Amino acid sequence: MKNHAGSRKRLMKMKVSKRIDSIEESGTVKLTPVINRLREQGKKIINLAVGEPDFKTPKEIIKRTKEALDFNKTRYDAAAGLDLLREKIAGNYDCKKENVIITNGSKQALYSTFQVILDSGDEVVILNPYWVTFTEQVKLAGGEPVIVDTTGHRPDIELIKKNITKKTKAVIINSPNNPTGAVYTKQELEKIANLVIKHNLFVVSDETYDELIYDDKKHFRISDFSEKLKKQTISVNSFSKIYSMTGFRTGFAAADEKIIDKMRILQSHLCGNVCTFAQYGALAAFDLKKKYYIRIRKELEEKRDYAYRRAKELFGCVKPEGAFYLFAELSENISSERFAKDLLKMHNVCVVPGEVFGSPGHIRISFAASMDDIKKGFDRIKKASG
Ligand SMILES: Cc1ncc(COP(=O)(O)O)c(C=O)c1O
Repeated sequence: MKNHAGSRKRLMKMKVSKRIDSIEESGTVKLTPVINRLREQGKKIINLAVGEPDFKTPKEIIKRTKEALDFNKTRYDAAAGLDLLREKIAGNYDCKKENVIITNGSKQALYSTFQVILDSGDEVVILNPYWVTFTEQVKLAGGEPVIVDTTGHRPDIELIKKNITKKTKAVIINSPNNPTGAVYTKQELEKIANLVIKHNLFVVSDETYDELIYDDKKHFRISDFSEKLKKQTISVNSFSKIYSMTGFRTGFAAADEKIIDKMRILQSHLCGNVCTFAQYGALAAFDLKKKYYIRIRKELEEKRDYAYRRAKELFGCVKPEGAFYLFAELSENISSERFAKDLLKMHNVCVVPGEVFGSPGHIRISFAASMDDIKKGFDRIKKASG
């Protein structure tokens, strides 16, 4: 008895690290078990918080994954990823395979990036609203997130300038943007490019949604602007969204060879390599025809148009140009956390409160769900707002 009480006391005294205590759980990921639990209780929840499209993974990718399993591609492999896959990606990024590493989703590409480029106390400029994971991964690497507001979701270059200090090490850009759907223009990116060249900073460019762009808008890669920028940019990207492969956990980073090599060394201790047969499956993505991309964009653009029309009737809202989210502004006296909680509890619709993205007073509504769910979801949101 005495012994047990003693060990309980000792256990209570044991503390987890300050580093892990400083970060919050992902406000979007934590919603999944909540929704699952409510559905198990028989509630018909409409999930407009989703960060994944509702269409099926292309059959070519499934087939190649199954073949890889049949051919026993079930073992450890090179830490940086399959050479074949790295070569294909390098072809798209106008670089060599040595400039590419395959990671467990772009989430891990970001994690490894910050571990490799940041020292304790280094500052990283993050534009607000921002995707939840940026701030937490910067903190995990000992860095300091410096949050800089945007104007109407566009980067405010003067404000970015004001926030650059001797400690600034990097700027994160995310276009198309989660949660706003903003796609940065060439001119906007050029202004950021001039700044990072002048101050000799890294750019971490999250291009996870680069294939999901509407209204004939174009995605520009900051790394394409000059050889110098190519050296200073770490581009992260993913097979998750455009191919509906979120569960494959297959993403990548493209950067200067020195950075990629350090990421490879980190990966050799962190996870060894990305699931081998998932990487073979991802190879099939390069055989998909242009019409695949056109079909997906068309479907999402129709959903975007519908969602935007409905959202505009209820909230302040900028039309998303890419990705599959709409960032709606609630009227001044409504707390977005309260609104999202009540919407789920009383109307069975799940959206993400703006607090999660550093912007209280907003809600993020995903239009990646089925059209039927989007329609029903907006009917219920209208009821809740009325
Ligand atoms: C901006 C952004 N980056 C990265 C990711 C991570 O995607 P994955 O790890 O599935 O590649 C997401 C997912 O929602 C995202 O929205």
